[in-house]
Amino acid sequence: MDTEPRFFETNPGSGVVGQPLDRVDGRAKVMGQAKYSAEFNSLPGLVHAVLKTSDVAKGRITGFDTSAALKQPGVLAILTHQNLPKLAKTPNDAEGKKAIGAPMGFLPLTSDQIHYAGQPVAVVVADTLERAQYAAALLKVQVAAEKPIASYEDPQAKLFDPTKVQDGKTPAHTVRGNPQQAFAAAPVQLTHRYTHATNHHNPMEPGATTAHWEAPDRLTIYDATQGVTRTQKAVSTMLGLSAEQVRVVTKYLGGGFGCKGSSWPHTILTVLAAKAVGRPVKLSLTRPQMFTGMGHREDQEQTLKIGATKDGKLTALIHEKTSTTSPWDNYAEPNSKIINLLYACDNFESSYQLARANVMTSTFTRAPGEAPGSFAIECSMDDLAYQLGLDPLEIRLRNYAEKDPGTGQPWSSKSLRQCYARGAELFGWSKRNPKAGATRDGRLLVGWGMATASYPVHNSQGTARARLYADGHAVVQSGATDLGTGTYTVMTQVAADALFLPVDKVRFELGDTKLPTAPNSGGSVAAGTVSSSVYMAAQDVWQKLIKVAVLDKKSPLYRAKPADVEVKQGRLQLKANPQKGEGFAVIMKRAEMADIEGNGQGRYGSGYEDAQGAANAGPTKKDEAGDHSMHSFGAHFCEVKVDPDLGTVRVTRWVSVHGAGRILNAKTARSQIIGGSIFGIGAALMEGTVRDQHYARYTNASLADYHIPVNADIPDMTVEFVDEHDPYINAMGVKGIGEISMVGVSAAVANAVFHATGKRVRSLPITPDKIL
Ligand code: MOS
Repeated sequence: MDTEPRFFETNPGSGVVGQPLDRVDGRAKVMGQAKYSAEFNSLPGLVHAVLKTSDVAKGRITGFDTSAALKQPGVLAILTHQNLPKLAKTPNDAEGKKAIGAPMGFLPLTSDQIHYAGQPVAVVVADTLERAQYAAALLKVQVAAEKPIASYEDPQAKLFDPTKVQDGKTPAHTVRGNPQQAFAAAPVQLTHRYTHATNHHNPMEPGATTAHWEAPDRLTIYDATQGVTRTQKAVSTMLGLSAEQVRVVTKYLGGGFGCKGSSWPHTILTVLAAKAVGRPVKLSLTRPQMFTGMGHREDQEQTLKIGATKDGKLTALIHEKTSTTSPWDNYAEPNSKIINLLYACDNFESSYQLARANVMTSTFTRAPGEAPGSFAIECSMDDLAYQLGLDPLEIRLRNYAEKDPGTGQPWSSKSLRQCYARGAELFGWSKRNPKAGATRDGRLLVGWGMATASYPVHNSQGTARARLYADGHAVVQSGATDLGTGTYTVMTQVAADALFLPVDKVRFELGDTKLPTAPNSGGSVAAGTVSSSVYMAAQDVWQKLIKVAVLDKKSPLYRAKPADVEVKQGRLQLKANPQKGEGFAVIMKRAEMADIEGNGQGRYGSGYEDAQGAANAGPTKKDEAGDHSMHSFGAHFCEVKVDPDLGTVRVTRWVSVHGAGRILNAKTARSQIIGGSIFGIGAALMEGTVRDQHYARYTNASLADYHIPVNADIPDMTVEFVDEHDPYINAMGVKGIGEISMVGVSAAVANAVFHATGKRVRSLPITPDKIL
């Protein structure tokens, strides 16, 4: 908090960083000029593919009847496991899975096995979408069905400890101190079980791929992905091509929430279909296919034991998670990580159990682990407060972690106290009636709840290129992704600031593997990684230009030491004598330079997380940054009104205050916190995909049946950020806010529901039947 970030130490800039700039891509989007991955319709000879999927969740394909489908006009190909072009590598074995970086260790159409309902069994290609759809409907698939297992709750399901078959995806069994003993000895003991429904990401833009083979060994893919480099690696490895032979372009993305954070079967299947028919092919998942095509947040339960002293100090935390996984993978969201670091507690244990079921592999879903993990710890903390007669905010302050309880490291920065204080003030928390079920507004029960939020600064690095033109404009590039949350805009601001140009003189380009590599826009790393890369690229421009000036006999800076020169407002001048200097354009024109290019690498984080998580992770710089624990923190405050007769819950007030380092754009940041909080309110009150326990099929795989909040469900939301300066995390001091926005949200809602009704619902979503 006391250290000014490096950014402003070196560069006061134009001051545009942090300003609520309108989206630079907003106009293109509302004018329909922003091209999404399924909108490259002018490719020569473009044709359409659709997936035929299995209704059966388990069994074997015994044959196909393609005769009626193939007779239809315009049908070009039907690909099945019998005729799919052979791949150099598939994720079907551990080595292939690792090489590809796929989330899912099984590629459909590589065998006759059916492992889950909705699994693609054929790709049908035709000259129009309608003809492809009709032919897919006529295609008959013969299946020998078997009885599937639907979830970990199925009596046939066998639970196993994934740490015994460690594949690097599941967090290990963790023990710190003497948890069992400490719990047994604790004067206050709570044991609670929490369940969380299956959730699906459902971004507005579905998974979509357009594949164009420009030559037999050269391919361009327009893919709805959160990371072009990661997709390039997956596809090129499967095809046995070099990365350079596969170009991936993602100029615009209509959301992702984690489901576009890895490569799923439809992408490579589209690429193979394009190969098979020798024409560009476009495939877009249907909304129902989005429920079986790109992963989900797994159905799960958690048991949390809390041991505490009579004055509310935690002495033991014991967490167990049980969840469903696929027939081949051992994925579980790491819920225990946030439980291990949120509060000071000397004794901690976490363990995981999985059961195989006939579902596809679950995957990262916005705040994977932190979202459901915070539901457990933050509801239990609320229970502890009531049990001891303490205010829910007070119990959290009594257990405030002054350092990372898991690692013992100091925080790189932590503004949680300020978040609590400011949030409570904005909300009016001090006026809260401590008694549950005691506040009414007419017939309605009124409840106030709060919860803590936190999200790690994952380890990552990226690169960027900045080209400054003598005429006073710049083009800045990085192969990053804009999920729709504002990467184009904030990077334009960072570049304008660092190059001392007006924002309308800067063009920022992203979303192409031809550009300098950047990590996936996932794990909240994009803002911090790409902004520091852009900043470093701009510094490289200035360093190169300083060298030009000091070698130029006509420059007032001739023979100055480069280290003695600074750049202020685009003017290169002597630090000791600012009168001596000149503008960059003068130097460039005299040297007959039309433009100058700088390159930069931005590092983000400390190695707190496994470096494998980032697409381009390399060795971490081992300096004092690595000695710190890096996290964002925040607090949510929620008011609900509950109808005691109908059991309906409405969120009527909302306050979120976060400390997340430098905020690059006040408007897009506020929107992101609002969006994440609404995402969390959805998980708290509405969202849940129901898997039929007999057929292992989803019963509500549509946006009509999978309920998410609409505008009328959400009140005006108050969002603030604490002014937080973190000198350790990256050159820009940016932590990122994509995921912290939803951490703790479901607990804040559940805690408000308890305060309103006196009824504790530990099962998400909190639907009316659970209230009554
Ligand atoms: Mo996010 S779940 O890391 O895309």
